[in-house]
Amino acid sequence: MQVGTLILGAGAAGMMCAAQIGNDCLVIDHARAPGEKIRISGGGRCNFTNLGCEPDRFLGENPHFHKSALARYTQWDFIDLVSRHGIAWHEKTLGQLFCDHSAREIIAMLRAEMGAADLWLETALRDLRHDGTFVATLDRQGQRVEIRAKRLVVATGGKSIPKMGASGLAYDIARQFGHRVTDTRPGLVPLTFPDGRFRAISGVSVPSVVRAGDAAFEEALLFTHRGLSGPSVLQASSYWREGAPIEVDLLPGSDLAGSLRTRRKEAGRRALATELARHLPQKLVAHLADEFDLSGRLGDLSDNRIDEIELALRTWTLRPAGSEGYRTAEVTLGGIGTEGLSSKTMESRHMPGLHFVGEAVDVTGWLGGYNFQWAWSSGWAAGQAI
Ligand code: FDA
Repeated sequence: MQVGTLILGAGAAGMMCAAQIGNDCLVIDHARAPGEKIRISGGGRCNFTNLGCEPDRFLGENPHFHKSALARYTQWDFIDLVSRHGIAWHEKTLGQLFCDHSAREIIAMLRAEMGAADLWLETALRDLRHDGTFVATLDRQGQRVEIRAKRLVVATGGKSIPKMGASGLAYDIARQFGHRVTDTRPGLVPLTFPDGRFRAISGVSVPSVVRAGDAAFEEALLFTHRGLSGPSVLQASSYWREGAPIEVDLLPGSDLAGSLRTRRKEAGRRALATELARHLPQKLVAHLADEFDLSGRLGDLSDNRIDEIELALRTWTLRPAGSEGYRTAEVTLGGIGTEGLSSKTMESRHMPGLHFVGEAVDVTGWLGGYNFQWAWSSGWAAGQAI
């Protein structure tokens, strides 16, 4: 069988790409349903883009590569599309846009936009070669089918959540056609600590600024029985390297030292730990009491000691043992080296007619709708060129 374009992967980027092509396009996916990550994203409401989708909110070896696609198909274009389909949405926080009702509406919208494009589910790629056209041997629900395609778009995503069908297929195909693949690692992932260090305070959530490398994120931090999670930690995890420390400020926007000085005059007999529980959850204060010697009464604190306590709580340095890995990571950092791709069309510089889009490419966004926007923009860019 012959098609103009074969798209591997009916996820966010693959469907968006197919929506630009329509006719003479076949999309295959080994899953039972298209857009499974869209379905489970954002707690079932899909954080589909971000109002502040600026290029500096993306990681990758080349900090400029993603600019072209993101500028040509912007968050406003996707908001337009969503609104045209009558999907109700709202801004939750920090520019993050979610469906009011269900992520399934985004999948249905993309399916509708795909128009005449064919979609084969439960279909796996068994072999791929190029002899002037791409020749893909597929296993379609147990049946062997050979497809010849002038163009091939690889949209099979990264390695995160293998249980949902994530595979390294895109990287294998990239290498087959002479592309470099950077080191990959889990991103937007909870960090782990040995010996159930935070088990006693698991479930406690606090405002925080978490720093890793040069990056700092002010959002909520969540203690879990395995370690640390919550948006500030997930964000920082993308900048964290094995063996490195992270730094946690537990007092963003508050003047603890000033408050302790005032309270020392007003309530000198009060225990320091009791006073701190006005600023931080009591369970957390109890957990920190030994580490930072939070014993004694307010009246006994010198100015220096007050400053020391504030500094300790603002620069709590922790060394994660690792991360929860691809099992729970929202994204894969790294991927297909961008030097081998056109930033305008996502086409291979090694093999004309071959395109790579979405998470498989070495472009990774922050938490908050940025990764879907990259999938929409890169899928759109390839689809337009085809
Ligand atoms: P995607 O993973 O969407 O699609 C790849 C497709 O290829 C899948 O359908 C898969 O089945 C198929 N495939 C893989 N290997 C194959 C093979 N060997 N043969 C055939 N088919 C194959 N981002 C965001 O911006 N906002 C959010 O709210 C969230 N929330 C979120 C929650 C969770 C739990 C996760 C894991 C991730 C997110 N993300 C997110 C990230 C976002 O889901 C991700 O960046 C995009 O889905 C990437 O789109 P792609 O199309 O590149 O890959």
